[in-house]
Amino acid sequence: MAAERIMRVLKKGDLEGIVAIDTKITNQNRREYYARKIDTITDPERSINTSIVAELDGKVVGFIMGDVYFGEFGIPETSATIDTLGVDPSIQNKGLASELLDQFMMNMKAAGVNKVYTLVNWDDFALEKFFSRHKFVPSKRINLEFQMP
Ligand SMILES: CC(C)(COP(=O)(O)OP(=O)(O)OC[C@H]1O[C@@H](n2cnc3c(N)ncnc32)[C@H](O)[C@@H]1OP(=O)(O)O)[C@@H](O)C(=O)NCCC(=O)NCCS
Repeated sequence: MAAERIMRVLKKGDLEGIVAIDTKITNQNRREYYARKIDTITDPERSINTSIVAELDGKVVGFIMGDVYFGEFGIPETSATIDTLGVDPSIQNKGLASELLDQFMMNMKAAGVNKVYTLVNWDDFALEKFFSRHKFVPSKRINLEFQMP
């Protein structure tokens, strides 16, 4: 029987599944970061939950986390960010991230978002290629940083 693949809104109980995928990808345990992040994105008082997970036979195998901003940070338009995108390495290259991104974009369009931003490390060529194939281009905004002495 074919495996059942579904996309649905991310919920609090997805924490362990997401941390497991992230650990496989990054070799780090970022449980605290994800716990905080998931608390924020699932809190209806603080934001609209736009984040999505992909499930395969009931197991979380991929996720996309983002946020919507209504004229914040001096940006006059309604915009969104994609903060994290991850797919279990055992099922990469099967179109899962593309499906997650398509679904996210459909939701953003429905929410009236004009522009979607994401940050990619300059040397993360695979992720950069993925976004480029999905029509993302370098932004006019530049990312500034200050190294604390
Ligand atoms: C980048 C990433 C999200 C892509 O996930 P994915 O599910 O493999 O993505 P897709 O399958 O949609 O696309 C990947 C490639 O597979 C190919 N592909 C898509 N559908 C396919 C299919 N049905 N059969 C074969 N190949 C396919 C695409 O051509 C695509 O090529 P591209 O990379 O040149 O765009 C994934 O590699 C990942 O999680 N990387 C780590 C990202 C990271 O560091 N995140 C932060 C920590 S979680």
